[in-house]
Amino acid sequence: MTDAADPTVVARVEALRTDLRAHDRAYYVDGAATIPDAEYDALLRELRDLEAAHPELASDDSPTQRVGGGFAPTTFAPVEHRVPMMSLDNTFNPDEFLAWAERVRKGLAGDGEPPPVRWACELKFDGLAMSLRYEDGRFVQAATRGDGRVGEDVTPNVATITELPDHLPGGAPSVLEVRGEIYLPVSEFDRLNERQDAEGKPRYANPRNTAAGSLRQKDAAVTATRNLRFWSYQLGEVVGGPELNSHASTLAWLSELDFPVNDHTAVFDEPEEALAWILERERSRHDDDYETDGVVVKVDELSQRELLGSTARAPRWAIAYKFPPEERTTTLLDIEISVGRTGRVTPFARLDPVFVGGSTVGVATLHNEDQVRLKDVRPGDTVIVRKAGDVIPEVVGPVVADRADDSEPWPFPSTCPCPVGSTLERAEGDANTYCVVPASTCPERRWQGISHFASRGAMDIEGLGERTVLALTRSGRVADPGDLYTLTSEELLEYEGFATISADKLIASIDTTRSRPLPRLLFALGIDHLGPTGAELLAHRFRSLEAIAEAPEDDIAAIDGVGPTIAASVRTWFDDETHGSIVDKLVAGGVATDRVETEVVEPVLEGMSIVVTGSLEGFSRDGASAAIKARGGKSPGSVSKKTTAVVVGAEPGASKVTKAEDLGVPMLDEAAFVALLETGELPPSE
Ligand code: IVH
Repeated sequence: MTDAADPTVVARVEALRTDLRAHDRAYYVDGAATIPDAEYDALLRELRDLEAAHPELASDDSPTQRVGGGFAPTTFAPVEHRVPMMSLDNTFNPDEFLAWAERVRKGLAGDGEPPPVRWACELKFDGLAMSLRYEDGRFVQAATRGDGRVGEDVTPNVATITELPDHLPGGAPSVLEVRGEIYLPVSEFDRLNERQDAEGKPRYANPRNTAAGSLRQKDAAVTATRNLRFWSYQLGEVVGGPELNSHASTLAWLSELDFPVNDHTAVFDEPEEALAWILERERSRHDDDYETDGVVVKVDELSQRELLGSTARAPRWAIAYKFPPEERTTTLLDIEISVGRTGRVTPFARLDPVFVGGSTVGVATLHNEDQVRLKDVRPGDTVIVRKAGDVIPEVVGPVVADRADDSEPWPFPSTCPCPVGSTLERAEGDANTYCVVPASTCPERRWQGISHFASRGAMDIEGLGERTVLALTRSGRVADPGDLYTLTSEELLEYEGFATISADKLIASIDTTRSRPLPRLLFALGIDHLGPTGAELLAHRFRSLEAIAEAPEDDIAAIDGVGPTIAASVRTWFDDETHGSIVDKLVAGGVATDRVETEVVEPVLEGMSIVVTGSLEGFSRDGASAAIKARGGKSPGSVSKKTTAVVVGAEPGASKVTKAEDLGVPMLDEAAFVALLETGELPPSE
C-alpha cells in the first residue's frame, strides 16, 4: 500500500485544492486577491510537491493543472435564438427613406386604399445587439446576436450590468426576451482611455469595440469594471403577459418593468414628420453620453408589422436611416513615418486630436509617398478628417484656403529618423519605400516582428501583448522570437504588470506554442510576401523548417501558387545569418519544426462574400482570395449588397470603399482579416 492511502496526505491535498480554488475564484472572478502572492505560491508549491510524490493523487482538475483564469469557458456556448435576431435595411438620404415609407404603405394597401400608418422613431444605438431572457420572472440568459440564428452565451458578463433587473414583478410573462443594445457610455470610454494613458498602455479605438471587448472577457470581473449600459428596443420570444398592440406601448411596458428605455422616441402620422425628426437627431447626435449612428423608424402597429413580414435578413416594417460619416477639420501637426515589420515605411499624419466618428483621432495613415503627393497635405495645414467605413481614420485633404503662404510640399525622407538612421529606398515601379537595413538592426522592426510572431494568425501566444513585447525587447532580454522559448516565470516577475499567476500563465501559453504546425511557424517568422497560404504550400512541399531553409530557390518557385517573388524572399530570409540563429534558437527551445499534418481549415466563411481591396502585408491578392475560398467563402472582385465585408489594405480602390460605405458593408483592416480567417467572426459592427 502506498502513502496515498494515508488519510492525512489525502486530506491535505484536498484542503490545498479547496483553498487554492477559492483564492483563484476570488482573484479571477471577483477581481480581488485574498492572499499575498508569496503565500499563494507556497500553497501551490506544497500541492505540486505532494502530487509529485503521490502521482496516484493527480487529478486533471487540480489547480496545479490549470493555466490560470480557467473558470470561465474559453469559448462562449452557442445559443439558438427562438425568434431570430434580424438585421435592418439601411437608407442614407431623404429620398430613399420616403421611398421605403411608400413601399410600406403600398404593402399594406393590398388592392385598396393604403391604411393610415404610424411611424415610431427611435435612435440607432451604436453598440452590440443583445437578447436578455427571463423565465418565470428571473434573468436566466444573455446572448449576442451572432449570425441572427445562433448567438453566444455571455450571461455572466451581462449579469454585471447593474441597471438591468434580475427579477421581474409578479404578472410578468413566463418567458420574456428583451432585445436591445449594450453600449459603453462615451464618458466611460474616455475614463478608460485616461487610465490606459496613465499606465502607458495603448488606447481603445472606440466605444463600440471596447464594449464588445468588455463583453467577451472570459473573466466577468473585468466586464464589471467597464460600466456597460443597455437600451431596450424590441421583444423576442414572449409567453404570456399583457396584450400589446403597438411599439410605443411595448416600450412603455418595458419601462414599467424597469428596463432602460431611451427618452428620444417619437411617433408620427406622416413620414415627412419622421424625416424632420431624423434630421434634428442628426444635428444633436453628440449631445448625449452614448454613440448613435442613425435613427430606426418602425411601423408602430404590431398587426401591420405581421402583414408586412420580413425578408431573410431584415423586417420590411423597419428601416435604419444612417447618419453620414462625420467629417471634422483639425490641424495636421506633422507628417512622420513608421517602419513596419517588413521594413515598409508608411507616412502618417500626426493630428491635433479630434473627436470624429466615435473616437478621438490623433494619427491617420497616409499610405505612401504618392498618396502624400496626391493629397498634397503639408505640416501646418488645416485638414479634413473622417473615418473610412467608420473604422479607419482618413485625411480627406487640406483646406487650401487656410494654408500659410510660405508652406512647402512635404519631402519624403531619405533616411530613417530612428537612432540607426538607415537609408530608405523606393524601387522603380514600386509605390512603397523600404528601410534597407536587416530587421535585426532596426529597433522598430525587431519588436514588431516579435509581435507578429505572437499574433493570432501566427503562433497565437495568448497573453503576450504589445506592451510586454516592447518591455522585453527594450530590456534586451528578447532580441528575436527564439528568445521567447527560454523565458522563465521568475524573469517575467522583473517586468511591470507581472505577478506570479500572470507570469506562469504566459510561460504556459508560450509552452503550448511549441507544438504549433509548421505553416503557422513559417508564417510567424514574418518573411516578406509569405502569407498563411504560401506558408501552407511550402510546409506541405518540404515537410520541415530545416528542409525549407536548404531548398533551392527554383524548387520553391516551382510550387503551384508560390511564384518567384515569394521564392526569392524565402531564400533571402534563410540566407541571412541572423535568421539562421533564430531557427537554431527555436529548435533548441523545443519548438517543433516538422508538424505538417494539415490543420483542419474549418469552413468558417461559408456563405460569406469577402472583397479585398488594396495591398496587404501578409497576403498577395491571390493568396488572400485562396485563404477565403479555402474556408468556404467567396471572394468576388466588386462590392455589392451581398458583400459580407471589405478588407481594406494600403491604397484601396476608392470606388470599392465608397460603395461599401454607401451600402453599410463593414470594412476590416488586415489584422481583423486574419482574425476573420481564424474564427469566421467579424468584429462587432452593428
Ligand atoms: S431593431 C428586427 N432598434 O442595429 C429589428 N435595432 O443594423 C431588429 N440597433 O442588430 C433591430 N439601435 O444591433 C433596432 N433602436 C434600435 C436599434 C437597433 C441599434 C442595431 C441592432 C441591430 C442593428 C441592425
